Amino acid sequence: MARAQSRYVCQSCAEVFLRWEGQCRNCGGWNSLVETLIREPSKGIRAAGPRAARLATRGGESPEALARVTDLDLPRLSVALPELDRVLGGGLVPGSVVLLGGEPGIGKSTLLLQAAAGVAAFGTVLYASGEESAAQVRLRATRLGLTDGPAGKTVRVVAESSIDRIVDLAMAERPNLLIVDSIQTATVDDLDGAAGSVGQVRESALRLMELAKGNGSSGPLGRAGAIAVVLVGHVTKDGSLAGPKTLEHLVDAVIGLEGERFATLRLLRATKNRFGSTEEVGVLEMGEHGLSALGDPARAFLAEHVDGAPGSVVAPTLEGSRPLLVEVQALTASSAYGTPRRTASGIDQNRLALLVAVLGRRAGIGLGSHDVYANLAGGLVLDEPALDLPLAIALVSSFRDRPVREGTVAIGEVGLLGELRSVSGLERRLREAARLGFSRAIVPRASRGGQALVIDGLEVVAVATLREALERALA
Ligand code: TYD
Ligand code: MG
Repeated sequence: MARAQSRYVCQSCAEVFLRWEGQCRNCGGWNSLVETLIREPSKGIRAAGPRAARLATRGGESPEALARVTDLDLPRLSVALPELDRVLGGGLVPGSVVLLGGEPGIGKSTLLLQAAAGVAAFGTVLYASGEESAAQVRLRATRLGLTDGPAGKTVRVVAESSIDRIVDLAMAERPNLLIVDSIQTATVDDLDGAAGSVGQVRESALRLMELAKGNGSSGPLGRAGAIAVVLVGHVTKDGSLAGPKTLEHLVDAVIGLEGERFATLRLLRATKNRFGSTEEVGVLEMGEHGLSALGDPARAFLAEHVDGAPGSVVAPTLEGSRPLLVEVQALTASSAYGTPRRTASGIDQNRLALLVAVLGRRAGIGLGSHDVYANLAGGLVLDEPALDLPLAIALVSSFRDRPVREGTVAIGEVGLLGELRSVSGLERRLREAARLGFSRAIVPRASRGGQALVIDGLEVVAVATLREALERALA
């Protein structure tokens, strides 16, 4: 078969070039040329998306009244890891493509091998690794204790990075689940670009999408024989998935595996999910034999909490329907040089800067000549506004060198005027705090229309302003 032709297309002005150039000669944009396949007209329809292809072959669908459209009864492929199933929305959907992102070494391959073993109990899996040899994959499987189980027989491994070969193999074997580790090592023969280049990543993903959506087969989702595809994607230093943003738009779900590489806790979170909620999180622990669920995830991020240390306070956060108690830590130190530092990890840096300003203007706590550091224990990353109040309390606790009163948790959003704003799901958060043995909670008064919240074993201190909250929180 003749090799398909590729051209370099400018991503800003769509001008087409024969060769790669650093700058587009048409619009002047830098680094905007991406190697792209030139498809023939008949294939052109397919390029517009698998759905368009299906419409074309079937001669079109006619619109139907909303109430009459048949329900999608999504069959799910459970991966037998409850935490991953939960984040997926109940398991993998056959015919869908999921992107699993995470920093190198965080445990993506481990998680997927375990998921493969879960599926192996009742289905077949093809694990294509472009990063490791089959022997390396086996070594890991042995470490995870999977080689002797059903996985030893029904998980088939191939060290392959050519997408054309992987698609051929998958078409021949029709596994229930295809794992491609990773999309950055995948290449299609028709493009010259190196693995990991925007063109290669996009084209590889497109072909795997076509495979999953099953070109030619009829019916929407859940057809017998539809393949669920999971792609591994690496995350760059700044936390975004490497490769084109379009990759995230293409796939049906994007799931991130987060955590500190040298700590054991891992958080699974969906940033996009066409077949489920993006609110749910999964909590896992990396151990000697792979990733496992925790007995009590709510207290996972509290493990090392010491009562009575200045600069630390516990916040009852809510991720989806799961309450997590998290230790917020802060440190202030007079700065030696001109501009004081504002360093945050796990928390939005701008939010920290804003809180420092509000503390200065509305609570009389001047941190203008202090370096400020803040972080969440356990390598957790959260962007909940309700973390404002615990963060402010931790800052002042460190600044004044006064610990937070024993057994206290705090939650609330802080406004620019130093007022406290209500948070969602307050009752759930506080019940969880009480269950884990906390005895006092500082919360915004505005919550629940001013009505006092009564929770067994918990003294609920409702306050209206940041100033008041600080007074009540510190010992
Ligand atoms: P890996 O799944 O290879 O990460 P990724 O595919 O995201 O790059 O995980 C690598 C790390 O996990 C490595 O540092 C070793 C550790 N690990 C364990 O702690 N326990 C285990 O059972 C396994 C298989 C790996
Ligand atoms: Mg890996």
